Amino acid sequence: MAQTHFGFQTVDERDKVGRVRGVFDSVASRYDVMNDLMSLGLHRAWKAYAVAVAAVREGDRVLDIAGGTGDLARAFARKVGSGGSVVHTDINEAMLRQGRDRLLDEGLVLPTALCDAEALPFASASFDLVSVAFGLRNMTHKERALAEMNRVLKPGGRLLVLEFSKVAAPLSRAYDLYSFKVLPLIGKLVARDADSYRYLAESIRVHPDQQALKRMMKDAGFGHVDVHNLSAGVVALHVGIKC
Ligand SMILES: C[S@@+](CC[C@H](N)C(=O)[O-])C[C@H]1O[C@@H](n2cnc3c(N)ncnc32)[C@H](O)[C@@H]1O
Repeated sequence: MAQTHFGFQTVDERDKVGRVRGVFDSVASRYDVMNDLMSLGLHRAWKAYAVAVAAVREGDRVLDIAGGTGDLARAFARKVGSGGSVVHTDINEAMLRQGRDRLLDEGLVLPTALCDAEALPFASASFDLVSVAFGLRNMTHKERALAEMNRVLKPGGRLLVLEFSKVAAPLSRAYDLYSFKVLPLIGKLVARDADSYRYLAESIRVHPDQQALKRMMKDAGFGHVDVHNLSAGVVALHVGIKC
């Protein structure tokens, strides 16, 4: 049976989805506060940058994959107006519920779908933009997920992948210290779950770096891919065009 990564552990491919589900079931209720704490609020700037680069227009159809608590879906919904649509999706029910409730509290009713990025329940060529923020890293078959994202995009449509990436070398020691010592401690104190935040740090280290992900996106059918490094490579925004 094929093996894959779950953080630094090597696990049977069939076990990874369940383990990732366990992480997000555990953190869902504290996800937003932990995001602000762990990134010192920077995740808001990274997402705002992605939304600015996306430049969606009124009437666009947008699919947000691994949308979790809905930050990107909410931002895109404001841009596409009543003539467009934003579909908010995730594989994890607890995360999707948190997001849906939060959006409802803000007066936003978006179509929501519980689905696996590796087998999207949408027709081919049906979206102008697909986004996935901090989700690809958790997927078992990233190539399959990227191919699905390509399939559901219209020709000329764009995929935005916002994800942790490889930090610039001069920062790597400090970043390691923060990731492996401070993050699990914050996780333990705030979310009462050090392991999930250890997984977060480990999963970032085994995720493809900027150039490797660019190659994967090209292999998945994106004719042109731009890479934007954010915060010295802590995060990268990959923009792929289906052409
Ligand atoms: C770190 S959260 C990101 C949430 C949100 N996009 C954000 O940026 O705040 C990662 C999300 O990926 C989702 N996920 C993991 N594997 C997935 C898959 N195969 N298909 C769809 N979503 C997945 C998880 O359930 C989780 O909600």
